[in-house]
Amino acid sequence: MGKQLQVIAIDGPSASGKGTVASRVAAALGWDYLDSGALYRLTALYAQQQGVDWKDETAVASLAVGLPVVFKGDKILLDGQDVSQAIRSEEIGMGASAVAALPAVRTALLQRQRDFLTERGLVGDGRDMGSVVFPDACLKIFLTASAEVRAQRRARQLDLPCEGEAYERILESIRARDEADSRREVAPLRQLPDARLLDTSEISIEESVKKVLDWYEKK
Ligand code: C5P
Repeated sequence: MGKQLQVIAIDGPSASGKGTVASRVAAALGWDYLDSGALYRLTALYAQQQGVDWKDETAVASLAVGLPVVFKGDKILLDGQDVSQAIRSEEIGMGASAVAALPAVRTALLQRQRDFLTERGLVGDGRDMGSVVFPDACLKIFLTASAEVRAQRRARQLDLPCEGEAYERILESIRARDEADSRREVAPLRQLPDARLLDTSEISIEESVKKVLDWYEKK
């Protein structure tokens, strides 16, 4: 292992709350925050806009290399257009999962992700922060929650009831994405032997943030 980096790597399945926890930990430490999933989502959206098939590895990878994205505070601009909401749909989530399974796309986005690290320090969230992008992170966390709890959280975010048809569809989509992300050959989602497990099914965001900060201070 190389010299440890001033990076906290938080990996885990979709809708586990890792984005919220990671960005709050970053704010508490005064570090930067990398939402790596957004880059895969942006690539999927950009491909859709350009009429490129999500399975066309060469074409999608070349779009990923030149992704015209600007992160402006809370806003994400793609080709000058605010896509902060558009990239959060379930459809684009599935597209992100599809393009993320293509090795050339992952390679295309690797350096872009590493460039987020400055001397301030970085909290990154995704699926392969600890395994591929920042294997020398000083703290690695696998943050998860049961599929049902994650589906309920997503439903609440979308102002939908936590039962019934719409909820069942969300649950199904979460399970399908878990399955795709865990089974793929490149950078599959799994807990690393050197990552700490944080199951947030029964604890609040505040408690989760505190736990991560405690681990960081005691490491
Ligand atoms: O985390 P989020 O749900 O925004 O990620 C969208 C998709 O992007 C995931 O389902 C996953 O397939 C992919 N992804 C990835 N590696 C990352 C982050 C996201 O493969 N580091």
